[in-house]
Amino acid sequence: MDKYPSYDELYARLSDLLAPCLAQDWPNLPVERAEGVYLYARDGRRYLDFLSGFGACNVGHNHPRVVAAAREQMERMVHAPLGVIAHEAALRLAWELAQVTPGGADMFFFGNSGAEAVEGAIKLARYVTGRCGIIAFLGGFHGRTMGAVSVTTSKVRYRTGHGPFLPDVYYARFPYPFRSSAPDPVACAREALEDIERLFEYVIAPQDVAAFLLEPIQGEGGYVIPPREWLVELRRIADEYGILLIFDEVQTGFGRTGEWFAAQAFGVEPDILCLAKGIANGFPLGAVAARRDLMKRWGPASHGTTYGGSPISCAAALTVLAVIREENLLENARIQGAYMLEQLRRFRAESPIVGDVRGVGLMIAVEFVRPGSRDPNPEAVSRILQRALEGGLLLYPCGHWTQTIRLIPPLTITREQVEEGLSIFRRAVLAES
Ligand SMILES: Cc1ncc(COP(=O)(O)O)c(C=O)c1O
Repeated sequence: MDKYPSYDELYARLSDLLAPCLAQDWPNLPVERAEGVYLYARDGRRYLDFLSGFGACNVGHNHPRVVAAAREQMERMVHAPLGVIAHEAALRLAWELAQVTPGGADMFFFGNSGAEAVEGAIKLARYVTGRCGIIAFLGGFHGRTMGAVSVTTSKVRYRTGHGPFLPDVYYARFPYPFRSSAPDPVACAREALEDIERLFEYVIAPQDVAAFLLEPIQGEGGYVIPPREWLVELRRIADEYGILLIFDEVQTGFGRTGEWFAAQAFGVEPDILCLAKGIANGFPLGAVAARRDLMKRWGPASHGTTYGGSPISCAAALTVLAVIREENLLENARIQGAYMLEQLRRFRAESPIVGDVRGVGLMIAVEFVRPGSRDPNPEAVSRILQRALEGGLLLYPCGHWTQTIRLIPPLTITREQVEEGLSIFRRAVLAES
């Protein structure tokens, strides 16, 4: 390789340049431009993106209004550490977010990422309750930093070799209707709640628990949608014992479920929210949100940040909120999502490996099984993903056994683009059956 290697030479050496956790992920597409629901690769190929940059680009890649707002802010001021500088974009964003966040959350700590939001939420919950216990839920994913990975159990390999983890974290079952032997949603919720009763009886007194921390719909863990009854009951238990209910809405937030937040889709209000991804459509931003009465008890200098709530990301986020409203993206997520679910459910009759099709809004997944059973089928998933990619559709798996494929296009997707994606997906699935 000469002194100034070309992109192609660098790409050939990807695994010498990037850590294996990045280099050996899939598919490492050589993309050089993105617009709306499409990615454009160096070889001229166009891919329909049903991953939305890991669920971040809800208003589509490089939305021109979001890019313009960020550019305009960048030309005025790139960096302004909150606390030292009170820039307008952060204040305006806090005010705007309070109009849409559930649970009356009207005060914000801005960070840079989802994991940081989770870290902040854990610290806030412990600080204001004076309790240490955190109850997290099996199959949950909350990020890769030490606090966040301590509450993450979607795959054991995310944890292996990284311990010891945060003390005083306990795990309870997350209700998984497709994999539960319970006969109905209420029984499925009941079965999961028994784990909490067991924890309270044998392991930790409820008076020592600061928070329940959960994704209202599990993301990385497999797009698992709990029965509403379970969330309602968690809220009740939390109220009974003064435990805070933390919703990690990093993946479910900002219109993904057809509502601003999954909390609103379920009608259950959290005390603390973790936000990131869709908040700024790809610009790095995260937030911990809570009601003022709670957040005000987190004392001065208890937490802080250099880059969190960057003016550029906040300016982008403000425009994201406007675009979601003005382009009616919540409604579009509901309409296109309902159509996708209906179409995908037909696959179930066509293919013996389609075990379950589920979704809320445009947070949709198909779980694959071995024919005639519920045994997870990760091998089929890997071949389907590869075939879909060859057909021009980028998808990504999830689930404890990597047995599930998520379909999360930008919320701007049109019916025509939905049809385009579904037909590639269908061909990839049927080739397997
Ligand atoms: C629910 C949830 N929480 C937290 C995170 C971590 O976010 P980040 O990768 O921005 O740290 C993710 C990322 O996938 C997520 O899906």
